[in-house]
Amino acid sequence: MVRIATVIGARPQFIKAAPVSRALAGVADEILIHTGQHYDPGMSDVFFEEMHIPVPTYNLGIGSWTQGHQTGEMLKGIESILLSDEPDIVLVYGDTNSTLAGALAAAKLHLPVAHVEAGLRSFDKSMPEEINRILTDHVSTHLFCPTKTAAANLASETIMQGVHVTGDVMADALAMHAPVAARSSEKLASLGLVPGAYTLCTVHRQSNTDDQKHLAAIVSALGDVGDVVMPLHPRTRRALVQAGLYEQAAQAMTLIEPVGYLDMLALEQNARLILTDSGGVQKEAYLLGVPCVTLRENTEWTETVDDGWNVLVGADRDAICSAAASFRPKGPRSDVFGDGKASERIASILADKV
Ligand code: UD1
Ligand code: UDP
Repeated sequence: MVRIATVIGARPQFIKAAPVSRALAGVADEILIHTGQHYDPGMSDVFFEEMHIPVPTYNLGIGSWTQGHQTGEMLKGIESILLSDEPDIVLVYGDTNSTLAGALAAAKLHLPVAHVEAGLRSFDKSMPEEINRILTDHVSTHLFCPTKTAAANLASETIMQGVHVTGDVMADALAMHAPVAARSSEKLASLGLVPGAYTLCTVHRQSNTDDQKHLAAIVSALGDVGDVVMPLHPRTRRALVQAGLYEQAAQAMTLIEPVGYLDMLALEQNARLILTDSGGVQKEAYLLGVPCVTLRENTEWTETVDDGWNVLVGADRDAICSAAASFRPKGPRSDVFGDGKASERIASILADKV
């Protein structure tokens, strides 16, 4: 059987890896390397438990550092495991520092890199994620694209070999877990929320948290929107405290701890509107048919905007308030993110690569 070393470390990567690891079981021998980029139980353990992801073979426990320090520590730790365990392929997801470290460690050892969520581009190199995406794609052998747009982005950078349009593994995860979430989550009841009568908001993008003007404008706008529930990313909690905005935010909306995937799906499914700067949450809003207002100037998930279900407003106070009050989706949604079987396709392609 093919030996695959999977590198994950941040919340969205646990969610993406869950259906792929399930599909790989039986056709591949998988070594799971958790970098420790996310480490709070609510940012890590809860996803392994709820989504039945195997316990990582290794946890590097790297934790929070500056961009270069964090990526460098990961690179060292991953390289030493790859040298001792000698996998056939290294599998990475998305666009975090864990993705880049896994890809770089593998490529330097001449190991083939498989990248799930290849070809995404925001065309904004001020985002650390954009750097991670471009570099990872350029050292990858197997590039699994969620959409045709992603494959076209790769083609325009002359990457044509090893490209597969598989569909999006987050659509697989959602299809698998949304019915369970609808049945079992008690989050709405525990928060006293009425379905269709609240706005769900998430914020964690560096461009919003690390710019006090942006953060203040968002908090002020959310106060005007008025019915907002926000599971608070630890980065954003820290930024609000440092900017002296935490009390204002706590009065303007219902701030809660980060939630597990099932509670998050339940909160998304029942929201009247989603406000977010998250990549994954924009996509989930589209898949669940909830209108989305994105607190960014650009998005790599352009189909959600082109189809009329997502609007980009940046961190502009008036634009946020106006979109929250009046944005209505315009057209039908399509199956642009696949049929819920992306993970099976990825597993069957990788299973052949011994
Ligand atoms: C990272 C990814 C981002 C992704 C996000 C998903 C990079 C460059 N960024 O951003 O692409 O969208 O994860 O959520 O890889 N912290 C804790 N506890 C934790 C984790 C983080 O308190 O378990 C705090 C620390 O103060 C840390 C800060 O959050 O400094 C940021 O964490 P980090 O992993 O560096 O970046 P994210 O903003 O989470
Ligand atoms: N998510 C979650 N709990 C939360 C916030 C988000 O389970 O409190 C899930 C969300 O449903 C999506 C993923 O985390 O599946 C998105 O991750 P995040 O927003 O952290 O990162 P991004 O997608 O922007 O990289």
